[in-house]
Amino acid sequence: MNANPEISNRLKPRSFGDLRGWIEALRQEGELHEIDAQVDWDGEIGAIARRVFGQGKGPALLFKNIKGYGPGDDVWSNQLFTGGLSNYSRIAMMLGLPKDAPVTDLVLATQHYFAQRVKPETVQTGPVKELIFKGDDINLYKLPVPRWHGLDGGRYINTYQGTVTIDPDTGQHNIGIYRGMIGQRDTLPVLLWRAQNWGVHFQKWADRGMKMPVAHVYGWEPCLPYCASAPIPTGVSEYEVMGAIRGAPVPLVKCETSDIMVPASAEIVIEGFIDPDPSTFEMEGPFGEYTGYFGGDQGPKHVTKVTCVTMRRNPIYRGTLEGTLPKRLNENSMTSSVQRAGVAWNVLKAAGVPGVTDVHCPAANNGTTLVIQLRQTYRGQAKQAAAAIWGSNAAHLRYKNIWVVDDDIDIHDYGSIDWAFAYRVNAAEDDIVFFPATFGSLLDPSTRLEYRDPIKFGTGKWCRVLIDATRNLDFEPQKQYGGDRFPPTVVPLPEHSDVVERRWKDYGFED
Ligand SMILES: Cc1cc2nc3c(=O)[nH]c(=O)nc-3n(C[C@H](O)[C@H](O)[C@H](O)COP(=O)(O)O)c2cc1C
Repeated sequence: MNANPEISNRLKPRSFGDLRGWIEALRQEGELHEIDAQVDWDGEIGAIARRVFGQGKGPALLFKNIKGYGPGDDVWSNQLFTGGLSNYSRIAMMLGLPKDAPVTDLVLATQHYFAQRVKPETVQTGPVKELIFKGDDINLYKLPVPRWHGLDGGRYINTYQGTVTIDPDTGQHNIGIYRGMIGQRDTLPVLLWRAQNWGVHFQKWADRGMKMPVAHVYGWEPCLPYCASAPIPTGVSEYEVMGAIRGAPVPLVKCETSDIMVPASAEIVIEGFIDPDPSTFEMEGPFGEYTGYFGGDQGPKHVTKVTCVTMRRNPIYRGTLEGTLPKRLNENSMTSSVQRAGVAWNVLKAAGVPGVTDVHCPAANNGTTLVIQLRQTYRGQAKQAAAAIWGSNAAHLRYKNIWVVDDDIDIHDYGSIDWAFAYRVNAAEDDIVFFPATFGSLLDPSTRLEYRDPIKFGTGKWCRVLIDATRNLDFEPQKQYGGDRFPPTVVPLPEHSDVVERRWKDYGFED
């Protein structure tokens, strides 16, 4: 897709080098809070993060004193970084925008970058190879991985990593965030859905009778989890999009026990293989999920059998607190509200839906609800938009409910959307449309439990809804409305508001 000149001229892509460069940039910008007091990995870290993330305004957190992970303990790491992307200012920093850029600019920047490609470069070695552990030396419990929520089924190590797999047909790499917990010292049970890109890879390896090689990458520049958690089009490597965001190729180094390429200056890489044989499965779940509920109940799941762990000296472990509730936001909710809107806008563009003027995902539902603002020029445009979104694989876990409104409605203000719902929606006029029995999120508790079995179905089951809150173009244009289909609104006429503007102080009001 072509560059979007409206935003691309204002972007200053910035590479931070690694996680440490990003942390230093945050420190200089006053965006980091460092905690020297001792904290417990079991529940306390999660509760601190919950309070700090709050409504998407708090700083990033660097924990430097974690119980059982002190300098004298036989451990791999004693620092945990989280919250790097839990507010819009830091997302703006990552995208090369001013910290106070409006959300729509963040969405436009994402839309632009996600359509660009900068190929990664191969390097022979890098800091991530400073320490290498194999065989009996592998012990994942040496990492300060929290039990983020009190009811989590384990210590969730995979919350904000990049999980890298290869398509055995094309050799193309895919990177995603897929949850996983520590099992035994060298096992990492994961939640693997066949409708996700690594699930597609997994099936191809299994069809060949082979285990799937996998690498979990922890701690690099912020564009890694930002791209890993986005539905970048199938067949496109996230490394190429990360290169666009940072304005330079991503330096990659080969894993020790597979052909997977990983960022050479990552903090930690866990290499392994996932076996399709159910006898290798281990118990996984539940986990405090993005829906705000515990989800993905405990059951036997696929396992990464670890073959090697490579890391920098004194690595900083990177994780995040999942689980969004109203007024309790986090990294997933803040990034999803930008990134899922940018992805949806690109889907609409690729499908040729004209007139789109803004796209927004409210932060509290991580992109489950999508709001599209457009300038209608013909009948059926809102339905065309929804059909394009729902037909895309980007819709797998998101976009269950879609609003489409006209371009006079502020989609960042729920009150405005609600007004359009009140007076432009009539269920008897096909303004509410269902799309039943589609794929969907296995974690949404509004879907019956029996429809959410990942092993049986590979995906969930959703009935999607479009609320077409645009003016109905089936209505006849009316002479008394000046040729419009809807009556004029009560906004004062320009000749009257001009007078009031001029005379405002005469009435005794401040500016
Ligand atoms: C913090 C966080 C946790 C996530 N956990 C999972 C998960 O456990 N399983 C999953 O399939 N997707 C999860 N996702 C969403 C995926 O990362 C997202 O759908 C992404 O597009 C997957 O990459 P893919 O499109 O290349 O498959 C998570 C996203 C975030 C931000």
